[in-house]
Amino acid sequence: MNQERTPIFNALKEYRKENIIPFDVPGHKHGKGLKEFANYMGNVVMELDVNSMKSLDNILNPIGVIKEAEQLAAQAYSADHSFFLVNGTTAGIQAMIMSACEPGDKIIIPRNAHKSAISGIILSGAIPIYIQSEIDKHLGIAMGVTVDSVKKAINRHPDSKAVFIINPTYYGAISDLAEITKIAHSANMVVLVDEAHGAHIHFHDQLPASAMELGADLSALSLHKTGGSLTQSSILLLKKGGINHAKVKKSLNLMQTTSASYLLMASLDVARKQLALEGCNLLAKTLNLARQARKMINKIKGMSAFGKELVGMPGVFDYDETKLGVHVSELGLTGFEVYDLLRDKYNIQVELADMHNILAIVSLGDDEKSINALAHALKDISLKFKTNKEIKKIDKILENPNIIVSPRDAYFSDKRSVKLENAVDEISGESVMIYPPGIPIVTPGEKITKEMIEHIKLWKKEEAQLQGTEDPYVDNIRVLGRDFND
Ligand SMILES: Cc1ncc(COP(=O)(O)O)c(C=O)c1O
Repeated sequence: MNQERTPIFNALKEYRKENIIPFDVPGHKHGKGLKEFANYMGNVVMELDVNSMKSLDNILNPIGVIKEAEQLAAQAYSADHSFFLVNGTTAGIQAMIMSACEPGDKIIIPRNAHKSAISGIILSGAIPIYIQSEIDKHLGIAMGVTVDSVKKAINRHPDSKAVFIINPTYYGAISDLAEITKIAHSANMVVLVDEAHGAHIHFHDQLPASAMELGADLSALSLHKTGGSLTQSSILLLKKGGINHAKVKKSLNLMQTTSASYLLMASLDVARKQLALEGCNLLAKTLNLARQARKMINKIKGMSAFGKELVGMPGVFDYDETKLGVHVSELGLTGFEVYDLLRDKYNIQVELADMHNILAIVSLGDDEKSINALAHALKDISLKFKTNKEIKKIDKILENPNIIVSPRDAYFSDKRSVKLENAVDEISGESVMIYPPGIPIVTPGEKITKEMIEHIKLWKKEEAQLQGTEDPYVDNIRVLGRDFND
């Protein structure tokens, strides 16, 4: 196939040339019905914000330009099929789990899986068999999973239907996906990969190997995160053999809108072309920038930019160097404080913070100027804001939860609200997640422990964003049982 082609983008440009009089939705009709917004955003964006029609195909049953664009993407990623996603990788992950698991089927999954995986489990009725990610005690963050822990879970639950792996984690850690895939396949389990943070890795040989290269069955990638496309646009990839294409399509059609945005899909089309044709050069530059940034940051007293040197530690088979994690707590500052300082005093927005670290994403949109600005800001922070405060290590992020009822049953059960401190030994009716990165402390169906509550309180004190509860301040939590006041 010719990777120069961008079928959706071209069809949109043709549509614009034709000066069609729109008597279909969207009702803003090329921006004329939303003038303030159109004046700011520009006419082209509004004229291309159109709905499905004959010349533009339909995401739910692609037979025209979307089909060709998906075939091009599949080829670029060495997959057999691809599906465009306009509801983020979230929809892809939900559809992967729905395709692999029926109600009651077991899925082996890391405890630090993203909330979209937990919602996939609720939707499908699957039973999670959690494996612990390795925790780096010094950095205070979760890494990947070991082959050994996957093997043990497979041996304990040989009737599981799927193994779910994150490739890479938010911070860039990579598990030994090749070996895990081999073991899972020989146990008749399919391999589902959350590649939300790995849309770029396929295109440079100094980056970790991608799920499709390693023979995984399905992989969902956020092209909008590191592949250059617009926010919310992602791709689901399929390798033939494990899961049927029609089943994935059916699951996806439960998740996706019937009014897919052509701006999002066209951006996927052009981002794929760029990755396929120039990805290697652009990522060589990105890698250089990330390495340069690490060198500069590692000269700052009290800070260290971690990365490839972690390879070989438990749960780190490889590392994606474009994830620029910086350990800052030696300065007597939490990652949250440095995150805020960067934004408030230096106009720099990083991806996330935890108690000890911040994470900057270096991508094909960066240049020397942005890298220098970040390194200089961090240096300035180290000089002006250092304290003698000791930052407590929270290394118990991932307790082994006691699952009392399936997440799906918990989700649909009667619930009542209790004060957080009174919730010990109750069965949780909702999730509590730290966001970003969306890792659950507790999920529906699990027994709530004292440690979980202490953990939630600690994160609250640090003003981390906690999500998932009906109570936006997480002072109360919904637990299973009838509320007789309801
Ligand atoms: C590990 C992980 N998986 C999945 C997702 C969901 O991706 P999206 O935001 O594209 O829906 C995210 C988003 O942050 C993530 O961090």
